[in-house]
Order: sequence, then C-alpha cells, then structure tokens
Amino acid sequence: MSSIIYFDNAATTPLANEVLEVMLPFMKENFGNPSSSYSAGRTARLGVEVARKKVAQLLGVTPTTIFFTSGGTESNNTAIAAAVRDLGCTHIITSPIEHHAVLHTVEHYSHHNNITFSLVALTENGEVDYKDLEQQLQAQTQAGKKVLVSLMHANNEIGTLLEMSHVGKLCRQHNAIFHSDCVQTVGHYPLNLSEAGVHFISGAGHKFHGPKGVGLLYVSNEIKINPLLYGGGQERNMRAGTENTYGIVGFARALEMAMEAFEKESQYINQLKQYMKAKLTAAIPGVGFNSPDHSLYTVLSVCIPQSPKTDSLLLELDMAGICVSSGSACSTGEASHVMKALRKDNNSTTIRFSFSKFNTQGEIDVVVTKLKELLS
Ligand SMILES: Cc1ncc(COP(=O)(O)O)c(C=O)c1O
Repeated sequence: MSSIIYFDNAATTPLANEVLEVMLPFMKENFGNPSSSYSAGRTARLGVEVARKKVAQLLGVTPTTIFFTSGGTESNNTAIAAAVRDLGCTHIITSPIEHHAVLHTVEHYSHHNNITFSLVALTENGEVDYKDLEQQLQAQTQAGKKVLVSLMHANNEIGTLLEMSHVGKLCRQHNAIFHSDCVQTVGHYPLNLSEAGVHFISGAGHKFHGPKGVGLLYVSNEIKINPLLYGGGQERNMRAGTENTYGIVGFARALEMAMEAFEKESQYINQLKQYMKAKLTAAIPGVGFNSPDHSLYTVLSVCIPQSPKTDSLLLELDMAGICVSSGSACSTGEASHVMKALRKDNNSTTIRFSFSKFNTQGEIDVVVTKLKELLS
C-alpha cells in the first residue's frame, strides 16, 4: 500500500488507525452477541447503542431514527422499497445520474408494482433543475399520485451538489416523501437532518475512513415503515440479523473524527483539488473539468481530449502505481450512465480523481508529471 498513490477515495477510503483501535476490542474480548442477556452480550449492546447515540447527535436527530445497515446499497434499497410498499408512493422522481443502487431499484419497482417514474431535468453542469422538479411534483400530485423524490446529495462521479433543504421544502409543499443518497456526503459535510426536510438518507462508513460493510439509514420519526429483513428483532425490529458490532462502533468513531476535523480537513482537501486543477490546466492542452466550480470538495472529474494515447491511460496509470477511476471510456470502453446523461461521452476520456486527508501535493505533482508523459 505504501508505494501506491491512491486518488480513488470516492470509491472507498483507507481505514483510519484511530477507527481500527476502537473496533479491535469488539472483535476480540467484547465479542458477545448484542442480543445475549449476560454481561458479554450487554457490553456489545452498549457498544452498538452508544454508537447509535453518537451518530444521531452528529446528524442532529434522535437515536430512534438511526438504523445500521450493510452499506449505501442496502440503505437505498430499503428506503425506496419502504416508500413504495409502506408509504403508498406510486410515482418516483429521480435523476439520470443517481448511483445504480438507486436507479436499478427504482427500475425494479416500476416494473413490478405498477409504479411510474420520471427523471428530473439537469442543468448543463449536471445540477438538478429545481423548476423542472417543482413542475413534475405539481403534475404528479395533481394527477393523484403520491410521490417519492430520490435525489443524491452529491454525485459520486462529478461531485455536483443538491440543495437538500430546498428540495425538502418542495417535497413538503407537495406532500411527497424525500430520500437522499448521502453516501458521498455523510462524513464529508456537517448534516443537520432535522432541518433538511428529508425522510430518508443513506450513508456508508467506508467513504470516510470507517469500515466497509456498514452503513446508515436515517428514517424520520414522522413516517412508519416495515422491515426489509425479517427474522430476529434487531434494530428495533427493522433489520433482522446479528449486528455488525465492530463495524457499527467503527462507523461512529469515523463519523465523530470526520466531524471534529471538518473545517481543517475539508479546507486541506479542497486545496488539493484546486492545486490539481491548476497543475492539469498548465500541463495538458485542452483539458476540461466535469466538476462544476461549486462541487463536492473530494471529487475532481477531468476530461482529456480523446487520442490513441488515452485508450490505455488508466492501465498505464495503474502500472505506475496510481489508482484512479474512469467514470468513462478509459477502462471499459463504455461511457458511464452519468457521462451519457450529461452528453460528455464524446471525444474525451474522463478520469475521476478523488482525494482524502491522507493525500499530498507531492502526490499530485507525481501524477500530473506521469499524465503529461503518457499523453505527450
Ligand atoms: C453515491 C453512492 N451511492 C451508493 C453507493 C453504494 O454504497 P455501498 O458500496 O456502501 O453499498 C456508492 C458507492 O460507491 C455511492 O457512491
């Protein structure tokens, strides 16, 4: 790991040492099942409930609204399934650039349950067109539909941001249910969910130096939903199965650390992003950026004019020990659904650089020099 340069933090992040430290005792000595009534079980239960309380506090909500899941995908699936099955939603408004964990779930329910869905228009930058959203909400509610709006807080490929409170207000005005995939923003921005007007959010621990396989589903107290998984009575009957005790404890510690250091770390990471933007602009003729100026500070989506040299760019970067993601034609020969929706799939190759507090300007210098060499 020490010899690689890792610029794919929107895919996953390395676990922080401080997070591992709080997880280890729950893997070893505090290994009890949280449902067991003897002391080893009670210690594990305490770990889970203290974690829930901490996470709730950090998100400005009560612990009864926080459910731990296996990750962003499960949380997105649960929210959409519950909105359709338990809350009577018959139309879903989403966007063409959602993660597949939302898009494929919406498609699934629309095929099987007489549910309709529509895609909100996007601006040229890839941001939600709020006028179009409002018009769609109006039209659907006038047609007697109960609407679920599922829009991500930040896009994982290009970093566009959603004005969550504004969408929350629009949804309230139209009696709609609002779910936001916050997988790229939980742990990256301070969120006050009680003020955001949102009914569900999804988060994942591995995006902010927490463990993989543990996620968060926030369910507002205003709504009542049924479980997705049946069996034992864990997670207050909402999600059966023995809790991922050490994952949950790690999730809470990672979120706590991220929020304590938010000002300093977000500034540092944003500086890295701006530095890379400037270096690339100077080094690569014709380079462009898919991420708007005001976007998620961890993500920089770069657009390089297509040439025979861009065909194997990701592979060559990989061989040089540089981990980045394509989001487009580089690795698969197929543009992503996000690039297609934004019509950025022609005559250019996209590379997504995504940063964390562990990256340095020195690493950016190495990567830009390598890119320049590969393209010249
Ligand atoms: C925006 C977004 N939603 C959902 C997911 C899925 O999360 P997980 O891999 O934790 O299931 C991801 C992961 O890349 C993501 O970026």
